[in-house]
Amino acid sequence: MQSTSLGRLDVPRIGLGVMGMSAFYTGAGRDGAESIRTIRRAVDLGVTHLHTAEVYGPYVNEELLGRAVKGRRDEVVLATKFGLVSHTGRPGPDSTPVNIRTAVDGSLRRLGTDRIDLYYQHRVDPGTPIEETVGALSELVEAGKVLHIGLSEAAAATVRRAHAVHPVAAVQSEYSLWTRDPEAEVLPALRELGIGLVPYAPLGHGFLTGGLRTLNGLDAADWRRTNPRFTGDNLTRNLRIVDQVREVADEVGATPAQVALAWLLAQGDGIAPIPGTKRIDRLEENSAADAVRLTPGQITRLNNLTPASGERHAEPDMAAVDQ
Ligand SMILES: NC(=O)c1ccc[n+]([C@@H]2O[C@H](COP(=O)([O-])OP(=O)(O)OC[C@H]3O[C@@H](n4cnc5c(N)ncnc54)[C@H](OP(=O)(O)O)[C@@H]3O)[C@@H](O)[C@H]2O)c1
Repeated sequence: MQSTSLGRLDVPRIGLGVMGMSAFYTGAGRDGAESIRTIRRAVDLGVTHLHTAEVYGPYVNEELLGRAVKGRRDEVVLATKFGLVSHTGRPGPDSTPVNIRTAVDGSLRRLGTDRIDLYYQHRVDPGTPIEETVGALSELVEAGKVLHIGLSEAAAATVRRAHAVHPVAAVQSEYSLWTRDPEAEVLPALRELGIGLVPYAPLGHGFLTGGLRTLNGLDAADWRRTNPRFTGDNLTRNLRIVDQVREVADEVGATPAQVALAWLLAQGDGIAPIPGTKRIDRLEENSAADAVRLTPGQITRLNNLTPASGERHAEPDMAAVDQ
């Protein structure tokens, strides 16, 4: 597995998001043993950049990851996020310094570690100036509880303000063949400042793999049943995107998931996607995308894919995204 840099943090180019092992998706939480085997296989394969958040579960996803890496802590880069659980009783996102100081100790305990390699604010908190939040994070760095800091779904202007207080290693945003939003402002700002981009949902929540052509196989509580891109006519329209990805995959001798990841890696250095899966076979498939090479012509065709129909999140979640 080749590596890349997020600020001053080196990571393998392909990581693993473990959210879906506990929350949001069909089958989440049903088989913790299989999830733990998948995480351990990831470490064996060099997929050592592992992502969770306090709010996934809440808490149980961090505990699961902590159990999985027990005894192998020094081999992995542990990333987690704070700010969507309030320990101060405040409604909504809470990135106040007092909340962060409580949150970090819980995450350290659940992950079974004395330091978090990359600690992200999950969503920008409109009620707390980013300078205060980053000031509190820099104190955690000084104390050795956190090694690098990150922001998630932050606008370019917020990233600049944060970086002026303490170096930001990475921004985590939704970025994939059907979500190109970061290209307009965030990615250019990150390049200028030497900050990495961690694309979340790089497989379009599974859609870009071609394995999700209807909602029939999804549990009633599966989060995608309420996502605009997966519902109504949008789902049917968006299938055209998957068909185009599959055409390229067939030419390359790869799978659609691998093409979706290889396209992200082809966007340049400092980009480290974190596809999520509970399954070892899919982990192996996704990590092999590191070796998939696309031609300039294929990249151009993928750049020009039919735009996605539907917002990437439902209305309340879109409202929480920093603009
Ligand atoms: N910062 C944020 O606000 C934010 C938001 C969302 C997610 N994230 C992070 O990003 C990570 C990844 O995002 P995500 O899980 O939402 O979406 P994703 O990685 O785009 O897709 C995950 C889905 O694809 C399926 N899948 C994975 N590999 C596959 C393959 N090779 N073939 C067929 N299906 C495959 C998975 O199912 P199985 O598990 O059944 O294989 C799962 O349903 C999360 O784990 C989380 O850490 C962050």
